[in-house]
Amino acid sequence: MTKQEEIEQLKAKQDAVILAHYYVDPQVQEVADYIGDSFYLSKIAAGLDRRTMVFCGVSFMGESGKLLSPDKVVLMPDAQADCPMAHMVTKEEVEQYRREYPDLAVVCYINSTAEIKSWSDVCVTSANAVQIVRNLPNRDILFIPDKNLGRYVASQVPEKHVMPVNGCCPVHDQMSPKEVSALKEIHPNAQVLAHPECNAQVLELADYIGSTTGILKFAAGSTSREFIICTENGVRHELERQNPGKHFYFPDTEPICRDMKKITLDKIIHVLRTGQNQASVPKAYVPSAGRALEQMLNLAR
Ligand code: 13P
Ligand code: SF4
Repeated sequence: MTKQEEIEQLKAKQDAVILAHYYVDPQVQEVADYIGDSFYLSKIAAGLDRRTMVFCGVSFMGESGKLLSPDKVVLMPDAQADCPMAHMVTKEEVEQYRREYPDLAVVCYINSTAEIKSWSDVCVTSANAVQIVRNLPNRDILFIPDKNLGRYVASQVPEKHVMPVNGCCPVHDQMSPKEVSALKEIHPNAQVLAHPECNAQVLELADYIGSTTGILKFAAGSTSREFIICTENGVRHELERQNPGKHFYFPDTEPICRDMKKITLDKIIHVLRTGQNQASVPKAYVPSAGRALEQMLNLAR
């Protein structure tokens, strides 16, 4: 029996479905029932009618799945797969802003721990951050923990006072604008598509800025045949699958999220067999972190 066949058998036995982010390995993407960006996967997790979900991604994704579907079993193929940015703000920072700005809304990127979400008013993903911040009644916005997405949102919603803290995704933040410009010289007709977690210098070079799903939709709808892609390299698989004949170039120092790449078929089999690595959220954070996520789903409709 192949690993893929074994996964199919175990899924049926455990009444399970597999959710995967575009940044995991292509082999893992191919066994997934649902594959998407963080926003899409949250909506799927919130509405699932199966007993178990295997979340192929990093720990904040499993926590969010559990918060949105508390009665479901959420299995994490690798319990150590974690997003470094998810920890990059302190409670003291948030409390200080709350003291300074009485009408503050704390807007929390979904790439954050459940504890950080519990200090926040609403969660966002890269697919809905601009829309949600624009529609909030508050003018003063603390954006945690991604400074790059926060700065991008501030540029798109100039009528608000958006204050980003200092966290970032190491994979996107370290992308070099020089490498992107060098690629553009070699492929002058290529359109540059960038994720808003990239640094400001890379975003300045972009023809389109959006979430992973946004990048996929843009590439599919564009008449261009060539694209320079400024995001994690796992997206290449779906870009090439959807667009035969189009060409996708990544910066030479290809952006790879080591944590997303920890997910393997063997680890999926292991958790489906054993029920190990269940995502859980400390009780103290559940009500307010859950509310911040539900609020996102309501506001982004
Ligand atoms: P999206 O899924 O919103 O595109 O975000 C990318 C990301 O970094 C997930 O970890
Ligand atoms: Fe975190 Fe960046 Fe990896 Fe996404 S790509 S999980 S933001 S480190």
